[in-house]
Amino acid sequence: MASPIYDFAKKYSQSGTARFHMPGHKGRTLHGLEALDLTEIRGADYLFGAQGVIAESESQTAELFGAAKTLYSTEGSSLCIKTMLAVADRCRPDRSERMLVIAPRNVHKAFINACILLDIEVCWVYPAGGSRSLCSSGVTPEDIAAAADSCPRTPDAVYITSPDYLGFIADISGTAKVCKSRGMTLIVDNAHGAYLRFLGEDIHPLTLGADMCCDSAHKTLPCYTGGALLHISRSAPAAFGECAKLMMSMFASTSPSYLIMESLDLCSDYLSKNYRADLADCVRRTALCRQRLAECGWKTVGDECCKLTVAAGECGISGDELGDKLREHGIEPEYTDPDFVVLMTTPFNTEEDYLRLEQALARIPARSGSPAVFDVIPKALVRMPIRRAALAHSREVCVDDAPGCICGMTVTSCQPSVPIAVSGEEITADIIKILKRYGVLRISVL
Ligand SMILES: Cc1ncc(COP(=O)(O)O)c(C=O)c1O
Repeated sequence: MASPIYDFAKKYSQSGTARFHMPGHKGRTLHGLEALDLTEIRGADYLFGAQGVIAESESQTAELFGAAKTLYSTEGSSLCIKTMLAVADRCRPDRSERMLVIAPRNVHKAFINACILLDIEVCWVYPAGGSRSLCSSGVTPEDIAAAADSCPRTPDAVYITSPDYLGFIADISGTAKVCKSRGMTLIVDNAHGAYLRFLGEDIHPLTLGADMCCDSAHKTLPCYTGGALLHISRSAPAAFGECAKLMMSMFASTSPSYLIMESLDLCSDYLSKNYRADLADCVRRTALCRQRLAECGWKTVGDECCKLTVAAGECGISGDELGDKLREHGIEPEYTDPDFVVLMTTPFNTEEDYLRLEQALARIPARSGSPAVFDVIPKALVRMPIRRAALAHSREVCVDDAPGCICGMTVTSCQPSVPIAVSGEEITADIIKILKRYGVLRISVL
Protein backbone atom coordinates (compact mmCIF):
# COMPACT_ATOMS: atom_id res chain seq x y z
CA MET A 1 0.00 0.00 0.00
CA ALA A 2 1.21 3.53 -0.71
CA SER A 3 1.76 6.09 2.04
CA PRO A 4 1.20 9.32 0.09
CA ILE A 5 1.00 11.73 3.06
CA TYR A 6 4.13 10.41 4.69
CA ASP A 7 5.90 10.25 1.31
CA PHE A 8 5.09 13.90 0.61
CA ALA A 9 6.25 15.02 4.06
CA LYS A 10 9.43 12.97 3.80
CA LYS A 11 10.27 14.33 0.36
CA TYR A 12 9.63 17.88 1.54
CA SER A 13 11.74 17.39 4.65
CA GLN A 14 14.60 16.09 2.48
CA SER A 15 14.30 18.86 -0.12
CA GLY A 16 16.31 21.38 1.88
CA THR A 17 13.63 24.04 1.38
CA ALA A 18 14.03 27.17 3.51
CA ARG A 19 10.91 27.26 5.63
CA PHE A 20 9.44 30.70 6.12
CA HIS A 21 6.18 29.24 7.34
CA MET A 22 4.70 27.56 10.41
CA PRO A 23 5.41 25.53 12.51
CA GLY A 24 7.96 27.50 14.48
CA HIS A 25 10.42 24.61 14.83
CA LYS A 26 11.07 24.81 11.05
CA GLY A 27 11.51 21.06 10.87
CA ARG A 28 14.65 21.02 13.00
CA THR A 29 15.04 18.32 15.63
CA LEU A 30 14.50 19.58 19.13
CA HIS A 31 12.31 17.07 20.94
CA GLY A 32 12.31 13.64 19.19
CA LEU A 33 9.20 12.32 20.96
CA GLU A 34 7.80 9.36 19.01
CA ALA A 35 8.35 6.71 21.68
CA LEU A 36 6.58 9.01 24.10
CA ASP A 37 3.16 8.98 22.43
CA LEU A 38 0.91 8.02 25.34
CA THR A 39 -2.66 8.01 26.42
CA GLU A 40 -4.18 8.71 29.83
CA ILE A 41 -2.43 5.90 31.68
CA ARG A 42 -1.97 6.06 35.43
CA GLY A 43 0.34 8.90 36.31
CA ALA A 44 -0.07 10.64 32.94
CA ASP A 45 -2.90 12.85 34.28
CA TYR A 46 -6.01 13.82 32.30
CA LEU A 47 -6.13 17.06 30.32
CA PHE A 48 -9.70 17.99 31.18
CA GLY A 49 -9.45 17.11 34.85
CA ALA A 50 -5.76 17.85 35.31
CA GLN A 51 -4.41 17.36 38.82
CA GLY A 52 -1.02 15.80 38.20
CA VAL A 53 1.76 16.30 35.68
CA ILE A 54 -0.41 18.21 33.20
CA ALA A 55 -1.69 20.56 35.91
CA GLU A 56 1.89 21.12 37.05
CA SER A 57 3.08 21.91 33.54
CA GLU A 58 0.13 24.20 32.80
CA SER A 59 0.70 26.11 35.99
CA GLN A 60 4.41 26.61 35.18
CA THR A 61 3.42 27.92 31.77
CA ALA A 62 0.82 30.23 33.35
CA GLU A 63 3.58 31.66 35.57
CA LEU A 64 5.79 32.19 32.52
CA PHE A 65 3.08 34.17 30.76
CA GLY A 66 1.89 36.03 33.88
CA ALA A 67 -1.54 34.37 33.62
CA ALA A 68 -3.90 33.37 36.42
CA LYS A 69 -4.48 30.15 34.53
CA THR A 70 -3.19 28.61 31.30
CA LEU A 71 -4.90 25.69 29.58
CA TYR A 72 -3.13 23.48 27.07
CA SER A 73 -4.91 22.82 23.80
CA THR A 74 -3.85 20.02 21.48
CA GLU A 75 -6.30 21.27 18.86
CA GLY A 76 -4.85 24.67 18.20
CA SER A 77 -6.21 28.10 18.86
CA SER A 78 -9.33 26.94 17.03
CA LEU A 79 -10.30 25.03 20.19
CA CYS A 80 -9.22 27.90 22.47
CA ILE A 81 -11.38 30.39 20.54
CA LYS A 82 -14.53 28.34 21.01
CA THR A 83 -13.60 27.82 24.65
CA MET A 84 -12.99 31.51 25.38
CA LEU A 85 -16.33 32.50 23.90
CA ALA A 86 -18.12 29.73 25.81
CA VAL A 87 -16.45 30.86 29.05
CA ALA A 88 -17.43 34.50 28.45
CA ASP A 89 -20.98 33.42 27.61
CA ARG A 90 -21.39 31.18 30.64
CA CYS A 91 -20.04 33.80 33.05
CA ARG A 92 -22.32 36.64 31.92
CA PRO A 93 -24.26 38.02 34.87
CA ASP A 94 -27.44 38.26 32.77
CA ARG A 95 -28.03 35.51 30.22
CA SER A 96 -31.58 36.46 29.27
CA GLU A 97 -30.48 37.48 25.76
CA ARG A 98 -28.01 35.97 23.28
CA MET A 99 -24.41 36.92 23.91
CA LEU A 100 -23.50 40.04 21.93
CA VAL A 101 -19.88 40.37 20.78
CA ILE A 102 -18.19 43.26 18.98
CA ALA A 103 -15.58 42.10 16.48
CA PRO A 104 -13.64 43.56 13.57
CA ARG A 105 -14.32 41.55 10.46
CA ASN A 106 -10.88 39.88 10.14
CA VAL A 107 -11.79 37.01 12.49
CA HIS A 108 -10.59 33.47 11.91
CA LYS A 109 -13.19 30.90 10.89
CA ALA A 110 -13.06 29.38 14.41
CA PHE A 111 -14.82 32.50 15.68
CA ILE A 112 -17.69 31.97 13.23
CA ASN A 113 -17.88 28.31 14.25
CA ALA A 114 -18.16 29.42 17.88
CA CYS A 115 -20.96 31.82 16.93
CA ILE A 116 -22.80 28.96 15.22
CA LEU A 117 -22.32 26.56 18.14
CA LEU A 118 -23.08 29.08 20.89
CA ASP A 119 -25.68 31.18 19.02
CA ILE A 120 -23.69 34.38 19.47
CA GLU A 121 -24.83 37.66 17.96
CA VAL A 122 -22.05 39.71 16.39
CA CYS A 123 -21.83 43.46 15.95
CA TRP A 124 -19.16 43.83 13.25
CA VAL A 125 -17.01 46.91 13.56
CA TYR A 126 -15.35 48.52 10.56
CA PRO A 127 -12.36 50.84 10.64
CA ALA A 128 -13.19 54.52 10.18
CA GLY A 129 -10.00 54.75 8.11
CA GLY A 130 -10.98 51.95 5.67
CA SER A 131 -9.77 48.34 5.75
CA ARG A 132 -6.30 47.27 4.63
CA SER A 133 -7.21 43.86 3.37
CA LEU A 134 -9.51 40.97 4.13
CA CYS A 135 -7.21 39.69 6.87
CA SER A 136 -6.15 43.00 8.41
CA SER A 137 -8.66 45.12 10.28
CA GLY A 138 -7.21 48.57 11.03
CA VAL A 139 -9.90 48.98 13.72
CA THR A 140 -8.98 51.42 16.52
CA PRO A 141 -10.18 51.62 20.15
CA GLU A 142 -12.23 54.65 19.08
CA ASP A 143 -13.97 52.51 16.42
CA ILE A 144 -14.73 49.91 19.12
CA ALA A 145 -16.06 52.55 21.53
CA ALA A 146 -18.30 54.02 18.81
CA ALA A 147 -19.60 50.57 17.89
CA ALA A 148 -20.29 49.71 21.55
CA ASP A 149 -22.12 52.98 22.10
CA SER A 150 -24.30 52.48 19.04
CA CYS A 151 -25.40 48.95 20.05
CA PRO A 152 -28.95 48.71 21.42
CA ARG A 153 -27.54 47.05 24.59
CA THR A 154 -24.06 46.94 26.08
CA PRO A 155 -22.13 44.20 24.29
CA ASP A 156 -20.90 41.37 26.49
CA ALA A 157 -17.47 41.11 24.91
CA VAL A 158 -15.03 42.54 22.40
CA TYR A 159 -13.08 40.08 20.28
CA ILE A 160 -9.88 41.23 18.58
CA THR A 161 -7.62 39.33 16.19
CA SER A 162 -4.09 40.61 16.75
CA PRO A 163 -1.47 40.18 15.34
CA ASP A 164 -3.29 39.58 12.09
CA TYR A 165 -2.06 37.42 9.27
CA LEU A 166 -0.23 40.32 7.63
CA GLY A 167 1.60 41.19 10.85
CA PHE A 168 -0.34 44.28 11.95
CA ILE A 169 -0.82 44.63 15.71
CA ALA A 170 -3.96 46.22 17.18
CA ASP A 171 -3.97 48.70 20.07
CA ILE A 172 -4.79 46.21 22.82
CA SER A 173 -4.20 48.51 25.79
CA GLY A 174 -6.45 51.20 24.25
CA THR A 175 -9.12 48.59 23.57
CA ALA A 176 -8.76 47.22 27.12
CA LYS A 177 -9.55 50.69 28.50
CA VAL A 178 -12.66 50.92 26.32
CA CYS A 179 -13.76 47.47 27.52
CA LYS A 180 -13.08 48.18 31.19
CA SER A 181 -15.05 51.42 31.18
CA ARG A 182 -18.09 49.62 29.74
CA GLY A 183 -17.86 46.31 31.58
CA MET A 184 -17.12 44.30 28.43
CA THR A 185 -14.85 41.24 28.44
CA LEU A 186 -11.81 41.59 26.14
CA ILE A 187 -10.90 38.41 24.27
CA VAL A 188 -7.88 38.42 21.96
CA ASP A 189 -7.04 35.92 19.26
CA ASN A 190 -3.26 36.10 19.68
CA ALA A 191 -2.73 32.96 17.60
CA HIS A 192 0.24 34.59 15.85
CA GLY A 193 1.71 36.34 18.88
CA ALA A 194 2.84 33.85 21.55
CA TYR A 195 6.37 35.28 21.26
CA LEU A 196 5.27 38.85 22.06
CA ARG A 197 5.64 38.11 25.78
CA PHE A 198 9.38 37.53 25.37
CA LEU A 199 10.43 40.60 23.40
CA GLY A 200 12.55 43.34 25.03
CA GLU A 201 9.24 45.09 25.66
CA ASP A 202 6.51 42.63 26.64
CA ILE A 203 3.58 43.38 24.33
CA HIS A 204 1.64 40.18 24.87
CA PRO A 205 -2.14 40.89 24.98
CA LEU A 206 -2.44 39.49 28.51
CA THR A 207 0.10 42.04 29.71
CA LEU A 208 -1.76 44.80 27.88
CA GLY A 209 -5.14 44.12 29.48
CA ALA A 210 -6.90 41.25 27.68
CA ASP A 211 -9.11 39.12 29.93
CA MET A 212 -8.43 36.00 27.88
CA CYS A 213 -6.29 35.23 24.88
CA CYS A 214 -5.08 32.26 22.89
CA ASP A 215 -1.58 31.65 21.54
CA SER A 216 -0.97 29.10 18.79
CA ALA A 217 2.33 27.97 20.28
CA HIS A 218 2.91 25.91 17.16
CA LYS A 219 2.88 28.97 14.88
CA THR A 220 5.81 30.87 16.36
CA LEU A 221 7.36 28.68 19.07
CA PRO A 222 9.13 25.32 18.80
CA CYS A 223 6.03 23.23 19.35
CA TYR A 224 4.24 20.54 17.38
CA THR A 225 1.37 21.56 15.13
CA GLY A 226 -1.85 21.79 17.14
CA GLY A 227 -0.19 22.95 20.36
CA ALA A 228 -1.82 26.11 21.72
CA LEU A 229 -2.31 27.96 24.98
CA LEU A 230 -5.42 29.56 26.42
CA HIS A 231 -4.50 32.19 28.99
CA ILE A 232 -6.83 33.75 31.55
CA SER A 233 -5.77 37.04 33.07
CA ARG A 234 -5.15 37.58 36.77
CA SER A 235 -7.63 40.45 36.61
CA ALA A 236 -10.42 38.42 34.95
CA PRO A 237 -13.32 37.11 37.06
CA ALA A 238 -12.36 33.94 38.98
CA ALA A 239 -15.34 32.17 37.37
CA PHE A 240 -13.51 32.22 34.00
CA GLY A 241 -10.78 29.95 35.31
CA GLU A 242 -13.23 27.77 37.21
CA CYS A 243 -15.28 26.73 34.16
CA ALA A 244 -12.64 26.94 31.41
CA LYS A 245 -11.63 23.25 31.37
CA LEU A 246 -15.25 22.16 31.31
CA MET A 247 -15.99 24.49 28.43
CA MET A 248 -12.93 23.29 26.51
CA SER A 249 -13.90 19.66 26.99
CA MET A 250 -17.25 20.31 25.26
CA PHE A 251 -15.51 21.00 21.96
CA ALA A 252 -12.41 18.85 22.23
CA SER A 253 -11.43 15.28 21.49
CA THR A 254 -11.28 12.98 24.52
CA SER A 255 -7.93 11.76 23.19
CA PRO A 256 -5.65 14.79 23.44
CA SER A 257 -2.25 14.16 21.90
CA TYR A 258 0.42 13.56 24.52
CA LEU A 259 3.08 14.35 21.92
CA ILE A 260 1.63 17.81 21.55
CA MET A 261 1.31 18.26 25.31
CA GLU A 262 4.90 17.11 25.76
CA SER A 263 6.06 19.56 23.14
CA LEU A 264 4.18 22.36 24.96
CA ASP A 265 5.84 21.21 28.18
CA LEU A 266 9.33 21.19 26.63
CA CYS A 267 8.60 24.43 24.85
CA SER A 268 7.88 26.17 28.18
CA ASP A 269 11.14 24.84 29.57
CA TYR A 270 12.97 26.30 26.57
CA LEU A 271 11.08 29.62 26.90
CA SER A 272 12.22 29.88 30.51
CA LYS A 273 15.87 29.37 29.54
CA ASN A 274 17.43 30.51 26.26
CA TYR A 275 14.46 31.82 24.35
CA ARG A 276 14.66 35.55 25.15
CA ALA A 277 18.24 35.75 23.87
CA ASP A 278 17.50 33.58 20.83
CA LEU A 279 14.45 35.69 20.04
CA ALA A 280 16.45 38.92 20.33
CA ASP A 281 18.92 37.49 17.76
CA CYS A 282 16.03 36.50 15.49
CA VAL A 283 14.53 39.99 15.74
CA ARG A 284 17.88 41.54 14.81
CA ARG A 285 18.42 39.16 11.88
CA THR A 286 14.88 39.70 10.61
CA ALA A 287 15.38 43.49 10.77
CA LEU A 288 18.62 43.15 8.78
CA CYS A 289 16.81 40.99 6.24
CA ARG A 290 14.03 43.60 5.98
CA GLN A 291 16.67 46.28 5.36
CA ARG A 292 18.41 44.19 2.68
CA LEU A 293 15.09 43.57 0.94
CA ALA A 294 14.38 47.31 1.02
CA GLU A 295 17.78 47.97 -0.61
CA CYS A 296 16.65 45.73 -3.48
CA GLY A 297 13.41 47.72 -3.80
CA TRP A 298 11.08 45.40 -1.86
CA LYS A 299 8.57 47.17 0.33
CA THR A 300 7.45 45.42 3.51
CA VAL A 301 4.50 46.30 5.71
CA GLY A 302 3.22 45.37 9.18
CA ASP A 303 4.27 45.85 12.81
CA GLU A 304 5.49 42.40 13.77
CA CYS A 305 9.23 41.99 14.14
CA CYS A 306 9.17 38.29 13.21
CA LYS A 307 7.09 38.60 10.07
CA LEU A 308 8.29 39.88 6.71
CA THR A 309 5.19 40.86 4.76
CA VAL A 310 6.31 41.86 1.27
CA ALA A 311 3.87 44.26 -0.41
CA ALA A 312 4.46 42.47 -3.70
CA GLY A 313 1.63 44.22 -5.54
CA GLU A 314 3.24 47.58 -4.85
CA CYS A 315 6.49 46.22 -6.26
CA GLY A 316 4.99 45.31 -9.61
CA ILE A 317 4.32 41.60 -9.10
CA SER A 318 1.41 39.71 -7.59
CA GLY A 319 2.02 38.08 -4.23
CA ASP A 320 1.04 34.70 -5.64
CA GLU A 321 3.52 35.05 -8.55
CA LEU A 322 6.30 36.15 -6.21
CA GLY A 323 5.54 33.13 -4.01
CA ASP A 324 6.02 30.84 -7.02
CA LYS A 325 9.34 32.49 -7.87
CA LEU A 326 10.54 32.02 -4.28
CA ARG A 327 9.60 28.35 -4.49
CA GLU A 328 11.87 28.07 -7.55
CA HIS A 329 14.66 29.23 -5.22
CA GLY A 330 13.80 26.61 -2.61
CA ILE A 331 11.88 28.94 -0.31
CA GLU A 332 8.40 28.26 1.02
CA PRO A 333 6.47 31.30 2.27
CA GLU A 334 3.76 31.12 4.91
CA TYR A 335 1.11 32.80 2.79
CA THR A 336 0.59 34.57 -0.50
CA ASP A 337 -2.37 36.42 -1.99
CA PRO A 338 -2.76 38.87 -4.86
CA ASP A 339 -1.10 41.67 -2.84
CA PHE A 340 1.24 40.10 -0.29
CA VAL A 341 3.80 37.43 0.51
CA VAL A 342 4.08 36.63 4.22
CA LEU A 343 7.32 35.12 5.55
CA MET A 344 7.53 34.10 9.21
CA THR A 345 10.82 33.91 11.06
CA THR A 346 11.74 32.25 14.36
CA PRO A 347 15.05 31.51 16.08
CA PHE A 348 14.93 28.18 14.24
CA ASN A 349 15.53 29.77 10.85
CA THR A 350 19.19 29.48 9.97
CA GLU A 351 21.56 32.08 8.55
CA GLU A 352 21.47 30.02 5.35
CA ASP A 353 17.67 30.50 5.18
CA TYR A 354 18.02 34.29 5.41
CA LEU A 355 20.82 34.42 2.84
CA ARG A 356 18.82 32.29 0.43
CA LEU A 357 15.84 34.62 0.79
CA GLU A 358 17.93 37.77 0.39
CA GLN A 359 19.75 36.39 -2.64
CA ALA A 360 16.53 35.23 -4.27
CA LEU A 361 14.83 38.59 -3.79
CA ALA A 362 17.93 40.38 -5.06
CA ARG A 363 17.65 38.33 -8.28
CA ILE A 364 13.91 38.83 -8.78
CA PRO A 365 13.47 42.39 -10.05
CA ALA A 366 11.28 44.61 -7.88
CA ARG A 367 9.54 47.20 -10.01
CA SER A 368 7.32 50.04 -9.00
CA GLY A 369 3.76 48.82 -9.08
CA SER A 370 0.61 50.52 -7.99
CA PRO A 371 -0.24 50.81 -4.30
CA ALA A 372 -2.44 47.96 -3.17
CA VAL A 373 -6.08 48.71 -3.81
CA PHE A 374 -8.27 46.89 -1.38
CA ASP A 375 -11.88 46.11 -1.84
CA VAL A 376 -13.41 47.92 1.09
CA ILE A 377 -15.09 45.18 3.09
CA PRO A 378 -18.75 46.15 2.71
CA LYS A 379 -20.85 46.58 5.83
CA ALA A 380 -22.80 43.40 6.43
CA LEU A 381 -26.52 43.36 5.69
CA VAL A 382 -27.58 40.94 8.42
CA ARG A 383 -30.86 39.22 7.54
CA MET A 384 -30.81 36.26 9.92
CA PRO A 385 -28.87 35.04 13.02
CA ILE A 386 -25.61 33.28 12.13
CA ARG A 387 -26.59 30.00 13.79
CA ARG A 388 -30.03 29.80 12.17
CA ALA A 389 -28.64 30.46 8.68
CA ALA A 390 -25.62 28.16 9.06
CA LEU A 391 -27.75 25.21 10.19
CA ALA A 392 -30.62 25.78 7.73
CA HIS A 393 -31.03 23.74 4.55
CA SER A 394 -29.06 25.48 1.83
CA ARG A 395 -28.16 24.94 -1.81
CA GLU A 396 -25.02 25.77 -3.70
CA VAL A 397 -25.20 28.28 -6.53
CA CYS A 398 -22.73 30.03 -8.83
CA VAL A 399 -21.75 33.34 -7.17
CA ASP A 400 -23.12 35.24 -10.18
CA ASP A 401 -26.57 33.90 -9.32
CA ALA A 402 -26.30 34.86 -5.64
CA PRO A 403 -27.04 38.64 -5.48
CA GLY A 404 -29.89 39.25 -3.06
CA CYS A 405 -29.70 35.71 -1.61
CA ILE A 406 -28.98 34.99 2.06
CA CYS A 407 -25.67 33.27 2.77
CA GLY A 408 -26.04 29.73 4.15
CA MET A 409 -22.73 28.35 5.40
CA THR A 410 -20.10 31.06 5.92
CA VAL A 411 -17.55 31.39 3.12
CA THR A 412 -13.96 32.04 4.14
CA SER A 413 -10.87 32.68 2.07
CA CYS A 414 -9.06 29.37 1.71
CA GLN A 415 -6.15 30.64 3.75
CA PRO A 416 -6.12 32.43 6.21
CA SER A 417 -9.75 31.40 6.76
CA VAL A 418 -11.19 34.88 7.16
CA PRO A 419 -14.91 35.18 6.37
CA ILE A 420 -15.97 36.95 3.20
CA ALA A 421 -19.69 36.21 3.46
CA VAL A 422 -21.09 35.23 6.86
CA SER A 423 -24.13 32.99 7.39
CA GLY A 424 -27.33 35.04 7.46
CA GLU A 425 -25.95 38.00 5.51
CA GLU A 426 -27.32 39.21 2.20
CA ILE A 427 -24.97 38.55 -0.72
CA THR A 428 -24.34 41.81 -2.55
CA ALA A 429 -22.49 42.66 -5.75
CA ASP A 430 -19.56 44.00 -3.65
CA ILE A 431 -19.28 40.72 -1.76
CA ILE A 432 -19.35 38.76 -5.03
CA LYS A 433 -16.45 40.87 -6.30
CA ILE A 434 -14.37 39.91 -3.26
CA LEU A 435 -15.41 36.25 -3.46
CA LYS A 436 -14.16 36.10 -7.03
CA ARG A 437 -10.92 37.87 -6.12
CA TYR A 438 -10.24 35.07 -3.65
CA GLY A 439 -11.18 32.40 -6.18
CA VAL A 440 -14.55 31.46 -4.63
CA LEU A 441 -16.98 30.68 -7.47
CA ARG A 442 -19.80 28.82 -5.70
CA ILE A 443 -21.64 29.72 -2.52
CA SER A 444 -24.25 28.13 -0.28
CA VAL A 445 -27.46 30.17 -0.10
CA LEU A 446 -30.79 29.69 1.67
C1 LIG B 1 -5.60 34.63 13.28
C2 LIG B 1 -5.79 33.16 13.50
N1 LIG B 1 -6.53 32.75 14.54
C3 LIG B 1 -6.74 31.45 14.79
C4 LIG B 1 -6.19 30.48 13.99
C5 LIG B 1 -6.43 29.04 14.31
O1 LIG B 1 -5.28 28.56 14.92
P1 LIG B 1 -4.92 27.01 15.02
O2 LIG B 1 -4.43 26.61 13.67
O3 LIG B 1 -3.87 26.98 16.07
O4 LIG B 1 -6.15 26.28 15.40
C6 LIG B 1 -5.40 30.86 12.88
C7 LIG B 1 -4.82 29.84 12.01
O5 LIG B 1 -4.16 30.09 11.06
C8 LIG B 1 -5.20 32.24 12.64
O6 LIG B 1 -4.47 32.66 11.60
